[in-house]
Amino acid sequence: MSELEGDRVLLTGGAGFIGSHTAVTLLEAGCRVTIVDDLSNSSSEVVPRLKQIVGAAAEDNLSFYQLDVRETEALKQILEQHDIQVVIHFAGLKAVGESVAQPLRYYETNIGATTSLLHAMQAARVTRLLFSSSATVYGQVAAPPYCETDQVDIHGIPHAYGQSKLMIEELLINFQRVHPEWDISLLRYFNPVGAHPSGLIGEDPRGIPNNLMPYITRVAVGKLEKLTVFGDDYPTEDGTPLRDYLHVCDLAEGHVAALAGMQTGGVSGLEIFNLGSGKPHSVLEVIDAFKNASGCEIPYIVGERRSGDLPAMYATPDKAQRGLSWQATRSLNEMCADSWRWQSNNPDGYDTAS
Ligand code: NAD
Ligand code: WQD
Repeated sequence: MSELEGDRVLLTGGAGFIGSHTAVTLLEAGCRVTIVDDLSNSSSEVVPRLKQIVGAAAEDNLSFYQLDVRETEALKQILEQHDIQVVIHFAGLKAVGESVAQPLRYYETNIGATTSLLHAMQAARVTRLLFSSSATVYGQVAAPPYCETDQVDIHGIPHAYGQSKLMIEELLINFQRVHPEWDISLLRYFNPVGAHPSGLIGEDPRGIPNNLMPYITRVAVGKLEKLTVFGDDYPTEDGTPLRDYLHVCDLAEGHVAALAGMQTGGVSGLEIFNLGSGKPHSVLEVIDAFKNASGCEIPYIVGERRSGDLPAMYATPDKAQRGLSWQATRSLNEMCADSWRWQSNNPDGYDTAS
């Protein structure tokens, strides 16, 4: 029996890319999972697919509410009704470019969702929280490989998305200082890609993807003509930037490890963990790995550098290895094969659903 059997966990934003994969891993560990999501960047089709993956034994452990997390009173009622012990807070807006054009919307939604959640949790007496932070908080201040103790500075982050993540981290650190009985872990994700091996759930961005892997899969499936590689004159071996790609199922398992740590007392107070593979890959390496995994050619051109891109971003994953007994194990090849299975089975994403 899993040590988390019967634990009651609420996922804000649990219908999204990372939340849905985490829901599967939690349900498979025997948890009772409640998802609260306003579906602003996801589909209601996720819920039946989650049930399909986990099967009849676990599907009774899943509840779903379509709700904006900023509706504090309704959220509090859900926390109480399901007697929630821990919240994983995925909900938020995440498109870097959009956040440059609409900074106020990003500050308001991301910070407002977090303060609302804290109010609701306080009212419902829930005191354990995992927060989806991002490697983006390291900004242009520290140098890779990034370590949790590296300095972070809001002036080194060139977009409202990343700034909102760092503001929320600061807010949670201050909050926990005043409420030392709370356990809060800030999880800094690097570049999650891949999909559940069933091909039933995956990343389904609306419109033209901003991120590399979903752009590649849409080229491969014929929805987009070609990829533009944003610059090949960086100071790296092949001239394209290095990133720390990790399989979304590894990332999901990282959440379960953090949750288990909290529930058993090994992870307490305020903690920060990098969740990355620690293995950097270049854009050209990703294209090549995808080609090998899928058998598809990925036509590309080399264009200008994208504003704000750094030559290299990757983690020191040692703290999570030591503190959570967790490490990413799936290869770049697996990430590509699973992304391709998801996209080729669902060329229009969740819209293909009848
Ligand atoms: P996603 O957009 O797929 O999932 C976020 C979910 O939150 C969506 O389902 C959306 O509908 C929901 N949501 C947004 N605002 C909401 C609100 N006010 N109330 C209720 N639901 C709301 O994104 P994701 O890739 O799964 O990312 C999850 C979290 O991880 C986000 O906070 C993101 O910033 C963070 N993160 C993501 C990445 C990445 O590369 N995907 C990297 C680092 C951090
Ligand atoms: C990866 C590499 C691009 C698209 C972003 C956010 C970060 C985090 C993860 C949330 C880069 C190159 C991309 C394309 C390309 N998200 N690229 N052509 O920029 O590392 O991180 O997602 O927290 O905050 O900034 O990821 O997938 O956009 O880019 O050449 O069409 O692929 O230049 O080198 P990034 P990405």
